[in-house]
Amino acid sequence: MNRDKMLQRLKTKVSEKRFEHSLGVEYTAACMAMVHGADVEKARIAGLLHDCAKGIPTKEKLEKARKNGIFVTKYEEKNPEMLHAKLGAHYARYKYDVHDEEILDAIASHTTGKPAMTLLEKIIFVADYIEPNRKPIKELDEIRKEAFTDLDACVLHILRNTIAYLQTSKEEMDYATQMTYDYYKALE
Ligand SMILES: [Fe+2]
Ligand SMILES: [Fe+2]
Repeated sequence: MNRDKMLQRLKTKVSEKRFEHSLGVEYTAACMAMVHGADVEKARIAGLLHDCAKGIPTKEKLEKARKNGIFVTKYEEKNPEMLHAKLGAHYARYKYDVHDEEILDAIASHTTGKPAMTLLEKIIFVADYIEPNRKPIKELDEIRKEAFTDLDACVLHILRNTIAYLQTSKEEMDYATQMTYDYYKALE
């Protein structure tokens, strides 16, 4: 499927704000791919489609995941919103005709990250956090700089902020976020 067709479809599936965010992640990921020597086209597609399942109503996310044989963790059962990453990879494959496993993996892991991410996975995880439409968050300027200068430090910085935020908000944290943090902390 060409990009125009992807855009046409995505536009009908997510809110206008989410659509703008998706474009932001697309070009941010493309720039990061240029700097870090990743495949620019793959970065664009993964960035554009990473939230393609975000518009599905929360309740349906759980149903749709189960129906399509997607493994649902205990945490995701309680927080079905998180499933938009795995569902996104599923829809990218079946609705947007993307069959590149690297792209699909990057979409599937974009919310929590995971230990030993590929370059493309790191790029999408970070681009989602730093794209220009994001409202200002703690240390964003520094994190944006690290995205282009020290990718592993950037991933760790984002995870540290996310964990700190979740601790103050009393929201429950996905085990995967902690595992990812521990992995990158040990690399430091
Ligand atoms: Fe997302
Ligand atoms: Fe996103």
